[in-house]
Amino acid sequence: MRHLMSPMDFSVEELEKLMDLAGDIEKNPEKYAHACAGKKLATLFYEPSTRTRLSHEAAMLNLGGSIMGFSSADSSSASKGESVSDTIRTISCYADICAMRHPKEGAPMVACRHSSIPVINAGDGGHQHPTQTLTDLLTIRSLKGHLGNMTIGLCGDLKFGRTVHSLIHALVRYPGIRFVMISPEELRLPGYIRSDVLDKKNVPYEEVVRLEDALPNLDLLYMTRVQKERFFNEEDYVRMKDFYILDAKKMELAPKDMYVLHPLPRVNEISVDVDSDPRAAYFRQMQYGVYIRMALILTLLEINV
Ligand code: CP
Repeated sequence: MRHLMSPMDFSVEELEKLMDLAGDIEKNPEKYAHACAGKKLATLFYEPSTRTRLSHEAAMLNLGGSIMGFSSADSSSASKGESVSDTIRTISCYADICAMRHPKEGAPMVACRHSSIPVINAGDGGHQHPTQTLTDLLTIRSLKGHLGNMTIGLCGDLKFGRTVHSLIHALVRYPGIRFVMISPEELRLPGYIRSDVLDKKNVPYEEVVRLEDALPNLDLLYMTRVQKERFFNEEDYVRMKDFYILDAKKMELAPKDMYVLHPLPRVNEISVDVDSDPRAAYFRQMQYGVYIRMALILTLLEINV
């Protein structure tokens, strides 16, 4: 039985197969409409979510399966003190597969050790968000036609942003990837990712503070929200929250084929005047998230169509 804890759980070849399957699902949705008939997905969300929870649920419903779950710790027996390991033992009796989001790093890993069904990490604290990474990879491959040989700007909260951490782990496996890390000093990428992932693999990167300096040289810009929920005090968050605001004027500095991605939700970091720019790809990205999660559910349940 397989789980998904990190994008590294799939080899590059397996990721290609997963993305090919997502592409076929996009083209032939009717072929997959009953693939998961009789199967149940449980969504165990101890933290708020719109896209990740509902796109997993949409994915299972599109495959003809059923869904159940909770959307906050308060509405589950976690509020009475139940452990993650006991909860997953319970869910293993009710569902065939589950997606778990938890504020504590490693909680889905604890779950998978006590689970008899596949567990998908739907985001654990500031650590990883592998299904967002699968979404991002599919989006980049669909827009650019390939995944290597490009300069990618990662902008915003690189310290707490788990989507960025997962994406870096996944992208360093492709040749010719260069990163420009765009963040204020206090929100720089954690040292362990710089040393254990980037330096170890000799991946070229630079760190800059000004978005305007980076924009002319990027093939792709990945914007992120400042992660309010991970700050220890409100004052620091307020000081940082509007550090970057990408607007139509700044987009004039960017190449004509530089796509803008964002895992969403956005707050102020992308002005709505960018939404109509053909390079704004963050809403298309959400749709790719459904196709790749359909492909993931089929793969983890070992269902061949
Ligand atoms: N991208 C993402 O994780 O969005 P949600 O928090 O809405 O699930």
